[in-house]
Amino acid sequence: MANLSIAIDGPAGAGKSTIAKKIALLKNLVYIDTGAMYRAFTLKLINKNIPLDNYDLIKEVLKDTEIDIVDGKIYLDNVNVSSEIRKPIINKNVSQIASIPFVREFLVKLQRKIAENNNVIMDGRDIGTKVLPDAKYKFFLTASIEERAKRRYKELKEKGYKCSLKDVIDEIANRDKMDSERKVDPLKKADDAILIDTTGKTIEKVINEILSMIDM
Ligand code: DC
Repeated sequence: MANLSIAIDGPAGAGKSTIAKKIALLKNLVYIDTGAMYRAFTLKLINKNIPLDNYDLIKEVLKDTEIDIVDGKIYLDNVNVSSEIRKPIINKNVSQIASIPFVREFLVKLQRKIAENNNVIMDGRDIGTKVLPDAKYKFFLTASIEERAKRRYKELKEKGYKCSLKDVIDEIANRDKMDSERKVDPLKKADDAILIDTTGKTIEKVINEILSMIDM
């Protein structure tokens, strides 16, 4: 593993991706959004009308799947799906797919391979605990559910999706529960990760907090 990696974990809407992207630019790191990988595979299953509880079929589809991240864009079988993976139907179903052990095994392997060849800042749920346990720096970002839901609601509205704030709160609460209660590599702060509560803080403030703690 390249030893200059930064792991950023935390629940949906805690600000991980916005913050990780900016730090990547400032510190010349490759930004890897691991949630986008779970989303891309979920998109493939939905597009192919695969029942999301048919593990045999899901395994077959996975064998024939290529996922890449190039310049911050996510490619599914060589097609850029960066916008499509943010659709509400993916938000709703991705945690179910991310709870399947063989899907995680496949994607964790891919994530580690990328980190072997690049200095990365990687965000997700299990980066500090599972994917990069030896990361040089580990952060666990969180925020109140109301604030996280408001941030996601604003993003969805800006993209033209129709939904209520209550829908977003329910969806995030449901995902938090599934992501933290699943058996394999649940959402969890690594013992050696630094906890940052972003509630009420601007992105700049959190970035400065992180920059003040890293030396690279
Ligand atoms: O960060 P996100 O909202 O794009 O992630 C989408 C889903 O993928 C999230 O509900 C949990 C799952 N995920 C995961 O289980 N492990 C990761 N390393 C990243 C995301």
